[in-house]
Amino acid sequence: MDNQNEMKIYEELANHTKTEIVIVNKDGTVLTSSKLYKKGTNFDSELLSEIQKKNKIHKTYVDAETKEYYFLSGRSIELNEKKQGGAFVFASLDSIHDSIHKVKNYLILSIVVALLLAAGFTYFVSRKLSKPLIDMEIVTRKIAKGDLNINIKKLSNDEIGSLAQAINDLAIELKDYRTNRSEFLANISHELRTPISYLSGYASVLRKKLYDSDQEKEDYLSIIENEASRLTLLINDLFELSKMEERKIELYKEWVDIEELIEGVMGKAKLRADIGNVTIKYEPQKNMKMILSDGMRLEQILINLIENAIRYTDYGEILIKSRVIKDKIIISIKDTGIGIPSKDLPFIFERFFRVEKSRSREMGGTGLGLAIVKELVNVLGGAIEVKSEVGIGTEFIICLPIET
Ligand SMILES: Nc1ncnc2c1ncn2[C@@H]1O[C@H](COP(=O)(O)OP(=O)(O)O)[C@@H](O)[C@H]1O
Ligand SMILES: [Mg+2]
Repeated sequence: MDNQNEMKIYEELANHTKTEIVIVNKDGTVLTSSKLYKKGTNFDSELLSEIQKKNKIHKTYVDAETKEYYFLSGRSIELNEKKQGGAFVFASLDSIHDSIHKVKNYLILSIVVALLLAAGFTYFVSRKLSKPLIDMEIVTRKIAKGDLNINIKKLSNDEIGSLAQAINDLAIELKDYRTNRSEFLANISHELRTPISYLSGYASVLRKKLYDSDQEKEDYLSIIENEASRLTLLINDLFELSKMEERKIELYKEWVDIEELIEGVMGKAKLRADIGNVTIKYEPQKNMKMILSDGMRLEQILINLIENAIRYTDYGEILIKSRVIKDKIIISIKDTGIGIPSKDLPFIFERFFRVEKSRSREMGGTGLGLAIVKELVNVLGGAIEVKSEVGIGTEFIICLPIET
């Protein structure tokens, strides 16, 4: 292969590899043609002498004219009759710079895309989160204003969903409470109005002297006295009940001798109510232990139940039993009275519920006794049960936990 052809090959190679290949002879004359050096021009003498000394070089090179950067790799070669020349490969650093630039651009682009995606995702998630929260805020504000006809729709199965469910439940509960409360207030005002109308009615009868005999006058006075004491009783019961409902009741636990307590209550009940043809019996369990409980509350429960038994029994017997089973005390009060119809049994612990309003009223009942009993039993952590048959009798059984 002659020299010319060889040089052509180098030029071709340079073209293909996007590099500049420059072959220089010993005298510094360029033998190939390239962008940097035309054929026949003189090569950089410094580079040539460097290569003649070191055999090979690697360095960066700046073209004096174009100011372009190259990576230069050079080697000394033997040309024609062992004369030393050099082969130089100039790889433009611009293309590397280009690549770096491109990579930089890609990087910036991907950061921008990532940021956009993140922002979009955040927006989506926050919409998904905040929309139901905003709905709930609107609804709770409605509730606060007293509008309880709300229902948050489409509940998801997550925390947001259960929050919405809780708000719905709260609205339902508040609604129940509101109906309950207005019913209760209506009842109270009715219950208060009745004795007051008696009081004012008979007072004016007396003032106008609309009676025929002293006996009649006495009768009216005793009605006034009874109604006044009923009113006191009612107010006391209401106060008691409202304290209990607000959970303001504090328990004072003490050692209670159940036998002594029940006998005391029986004595008081006999004094307060006319027991007529009824006998009251107490059958304690043998060796009844002392129990730790709130004696006052226990007494209140028993007074209510025993007074009811007396009130609703015309003849026969009231039997009270107490026994301790394991860590519980069971007290039952059984009468042979008028009984409670089974349709009314579920309601007798409700405030102001009475099977026969007139009889209960006549006997001095307020309709709050059993509601108070139920609350008190709850406060003491126990339970109350009732069994009754019309014409045969009624039995109340309370079961309280005890510490002995
Ligand atoms: N031992 C009982 N025998 C029959 N009915 C009873 C008895 N105890 C309670 N009741 C019925 O339950 C109602 C509610 O009792 P309570 O709350 O104590 O009210 P009150 O005794 O003031 O009427 C009574 O009005 C009565 O109809
Ligand atoms: Mg009662």
